[in-house]
Amino acid sequence: MATQLDRVRLLPYTPEIARSTASVYRKVRDVILPEEWPVHAPYIDAIQRLKRERGAVILAHNYQTPEIFHGVADITGDSLALARAATRTDADVIVLCGVHFMAETAKLLNPEKTVLIPDLEAGCSLAESLTAADVRLLRERYPGVPVVTYVNTSAAVKAESDICCTSGNAVEVVESLGTDRVIFLPDEYLGRWVASQTQVEVILWQGHCIVHERFRAQDLRAYREQYPGIQILAHPECPPDVLAEADYVGSTSGMIRYVGQARPARVVMVTECSMSDNVAAEYPELEFIRPCALCPHMKRITLPKILESLETMRHAVEVPPDIAVRARTAVERMLAVRRNPAR
Ligand code: 13P
Ligand code: SF4
Repeated sequence: MATQLDRVRLLPYTPEIARSTASVYRKVRDVILPEEWPVHAPYIDAIQRLKRERGAVILAHNYQTPEIFHGVADITGDSLALARAATRTDADVIVLCGVHFMAETAKLLNPEKTVLIPDLEAGCSLAESLTAADVRLLRERYPGVPVVTYVNTSAAVKAESDICCTSGNAVEVVESLGTDRVIFLPDEYLGRWVASQTQVEVILWQGHCIVHERFRAQDLRAYREQYPGIQILAHPECPPDVLAEADYVGSTSGMIRYVGQARPARVVMVTECSMSDNVAAEYPELEFIRPCALCPHMKRITLPKILESLETMRHAVEVPPDIAVRARTAVERMLAVRRNPAR
């Protein structure tokens, strides 16, 4: 069986491909080594062509690597933006470059379309931390209290929920319910951050993101000492003492917007590190401090797998109809809540 490296070597880097991908390379040259480009460029060229033939659109999360984010994606964004984009596309095929719950959300919103994920194993530690049976037990324990679930969950969990949220709208979603208490699942740290922003009482679960739970407040203090004037932006999946050290807390797209508007001369994004590469490519004049924190699930998506996915039309995401109906309602309720543009 061919390894990924074997397949990479099979695609030749020709002068035509160098020309067709030159504008992408100009954008990413500060974040992709020149030696790597001949490996990526033939894939970018092949994916761009096959994508058009298939009538496919590629949605990519902000944590995808620069050759995907800048090279082949049609639409990029955070979980909320990708969910919204999935409702707006008229393409027959959606290739979701991100993790499984994102592809499932796109499928829920587009039951008639083909939604592909290039690697079925691209999961999420938060989604794995909670089952539908857990949600049913919590409902028994807190009768009448509405259940808000982060989109980083399976469709089966969404189906047991009243409404979903993302890091970009969690506070607005919790407040939209008009209750004194909510059950907030499964991310404990996002839930604590929401609780710090609202009067609504938040009942928590102990799910954590394996990437964000590792950041330490002392590391952030060390950045301030070592890099005077640095702006610290953090994702709300980080522990509360880490968020307390940040200048801005928000979703991945919220952080990108912050950089675009404030243009801090020095900045650190306390989140998955491919995002810093993607943003640094847009703003070469800014200094990005880049602690490396890779999400192993996001990194399962590669150019060779995207090409293979378009060639074979695998892996198509399916959701059983009885689950899909209820899960879709929870996602659509979320989409009806207005996003706070600052998050
Ligand atoms: P965003 O919705 O902020 O992009 O976050 C998704 C995620 O998985 C963060 O780890
Ligand atoms: Fe899940 Fe964390 Fe990876 Fe985001 S970074 S997909 S929350 S494991």
